[in-house]
Amino acid sequence: MEHLISAEEISRERFYEIYRLSRKVKKALKEDRKKFSVLRGKCVVNLFFEPSTRTRSSFEKAGKFLSADVINITASASSLKKGESLIDTLKNLDMMHPDVIVLRHPCEGACYTVKRFINASIVNAGDGRHQHPTQALLDAVTLTEYFENLEGKKIAIIGDIVNSRVARSDAILFKTLGAEVFVYGPSPYMPRFPEAIGVKKLSSFEEVAEISDAVVLLRIQLERQNARKTFPSLREYAELYGMNKKRLSMLKKDAVVLHPGPFNRGVELNNDVVMSEKSLIFNQVETGLAVRMVVLSLLCRRKERLEEEVQ
Ligand code: CP
Repeated sequence: MEHLISAEEISRERFYEIYRLSRKVKKALKEDRKKFSVLRGKCVVNLFFEPSTRTRSSFEKAGKFLSADVINITASASSLKKGESLIDTLKNLDMMHPDVIVLRHPCEGACYTVKRFINASIVNAGDGRHQHPTQALLDAVTLTEYFENLEGKKIAIIGDIVNSRVARSDAILFKTLGAEVFVYGPSPYMPRFPEAIGVKKLSSFEEVAEISDAVVLLRIQLERQNARKTFPSLREYAELYGMNKKRLSMLKKDAVVLHPGPFNRGVELNNDVVMSEKSLIFNQVETGLAVRMVVLSLLCRRKERLEEEVQ
C-alpha cells in the first residue's frame, strides 16, 4: 500500500488483513499496552485544512503510540495564511522527509493533486464530499466485529448523502465486502443517480426498519451547502428523519446504529439512541485508533513488526 486516498483502493483481502491486525491492536490497547517501537525513525505529518476531532487526534495518537515523530499543522497557523499554495506547502513539507502525510482538505481530489509532487505516502483524511477511506475502514471493521462478516447484510445510510464523503466511502467498501447498501433521507440530500455509487433509494423509515441490519446516521453537512436552505428547519428534520426511541424500536432485533461523528443530539439522533445498546457509535471511535495504527504501519512497510509487537 503506497497511499490511501479512496475506499476503491481497499480490496477484500486488504480489508481482512487490516481487520485482523486492528483487532489485535485493539486488544493490546485494552490491556493498557500503548507504546510500540514499530514506527521508530519514521515521521508522520498531520495537515488539516478543516476542523476535526476524531480523525486528527487518532492519527496523532496512532503515530505516537507507534513511536513515530508526529508533526501537526493547522492551516490557520501555517504559511498558507501568507498565500503559499497547497502544492508548495506539501513540497516544502516533503523536503523534511516525512514518511506519511495525512491530509484533510475541503477540495475533492486534493490528495490526487498533490500526490505526484511528493515522495511521502499520503492518507486522505477527508477531501470535501469525495472520500474518507479510514472512516470507511473503521466503520467496516466495527460492523465486521459485530456480524463476523458483511456478506448479504443490508446497510442503510440515512441523511445528507450527496454532501457526505462518509456515505460514498462506506458504500464502496461495504459493497466490496458483500453488503447491499441503501440510502434514505430528504430528497435534496439524495443522489440523483444512486446507481452511480451502487446504492438503492428507500422511500420511508418503515422500509429502512424492515430490511436493515445496520443503519448509518449522518450529520447534515451545512458547511457544504453554499448557504442554500435545503431543509425548512432542523426541528423538522429531526421529526421526519431523526433516529429516536420509537424508530429504534422499529429496527430488527439485532440491528445496530452507527454515526461517524460529530453528531448533533436532537437532530439526526437523540439521547436515547446514543445511550442505546444498539449504538456502536463509541466503538467506532475506539476502532478508529487501531485501524489508523495499522494503516500507518502498512504505509511505512512495518506491518510484520506491528504484528510481532502486539502479540
Ligand atoms: N468522523 C470524522 O471524520 O470526525 P472528525 O471530523 O472529528 O475527524
